[in-house]
Amino acid sequence: MRTILITGASSGIGAALARHYAAAGTRLVLVARHGPRLEAVAQDCRAKGAEVEVARGDTRDRAAIRALLRDADARSPLDLVVVNAAINGGGKEGRVETQETAFETADINYTGSLNVMLPALDLMLHRGRGQIALMSSLAAYAPLADAPTYSGAKAALVAHGLALRQKVHPLGVKVSVVTPGYVKTPMGGELKGWRPLEMSADRAAALIARGLAKDRDVVSFPLPLALLARCVLLLPEWVRRLSLSAFKFNQR
Ligand SMILES: NC(=O)c1ccc[n+]([C@@H]2O[C@H](COP(=O)([O-])OP(=O)(O)OC[C@H]3O[C@@H](n4cnc5c(N)ncnc54)[C@H](OP(=O)(O)O)[C@@H]3O)[C@@H](O)[C@H]2O)c1
Repeated sequence: MRTILITGASSGIGAALARHYAAAGTRLVLVARHGPRLEAVAQDCRAKGAEVEVARGDTRDRAAIRALLRDADARSPLDLVVVNAAINGGGKEGRVETQETAFETADINYTGSLNVMLPALDLMLHRGRGQIALMSSLAAYAPLADAPTYSGAKAALVAHGLALRQKVHPLGVKVSVVTPGYVKTPMGGELKGWRPLEMSADRAAALIARGLAKDRDVVSFPLPLALLARCVLLLPEWVRRLSLSAFKFNQR
């Protein structure tokens, strides 16, 4: 039995990953705040033969999430944990992001991710086996003026994940960071702007699963956008400002 825990499994990429991995011989632990959407994904996964546990939780609640991971792991050791839950944050109608939104975004997208990753890491280090995927974004490389805290949190996940990877790989734990471009999901739908090479959540899930199966350090796609994004910080500021202005967006 392979056990996979996914946070943010009630929607978008997390839900698509759950459905992708759903099969006989797989146990899924699906985490998000809202029950009904999570239950709908769980039903699809059960129909594909997976054993599914639905776990309602807010990744900001450190103690509750630690307990949730520990209990799930005690029932069946976690082989893969996908740290995926996040929000968009950003300024409304082109304005500077408020403090309130910035702290909420940092709390969910970075601290909330650590609340999941660090207990999972301890459990996996203890038995010398396991895999963790951190869901970042191409915004980690190409910081978006309309979503500064989102970009910062995603950059932090890349740096944190890759630093940890070096340390824990020899101890049997694989850590990968995932940096998708535009994916058609409810989160993406909140933003009005140019979304070049946008792909479906199902396609993104297949690419992520393929990259994780190969234990890639960074799972980045689509390739043309990933290459451009990863060069952005090497550009002089005026060129960077010009090129990133094409990616301005507004919250719907
Ligand atoms: N869509 C894109 O274009 C894109 C591009 C690059 C990277 N990404 C990344 O991919 C991941 C998934 O994004 P998505 O587009 O699939 O978004 P989405 O459809 O909005 O899904 C986000 C998921 O996170 C959960 N969530 C949010 N806050 C939570 C919290 N505090 N505790 C627990 N669960 C929480 C939501 O469920 P509840 O509201 O029920 O809790 C939902 O299941 C994110 O990390 C995002 O940054 C997305």
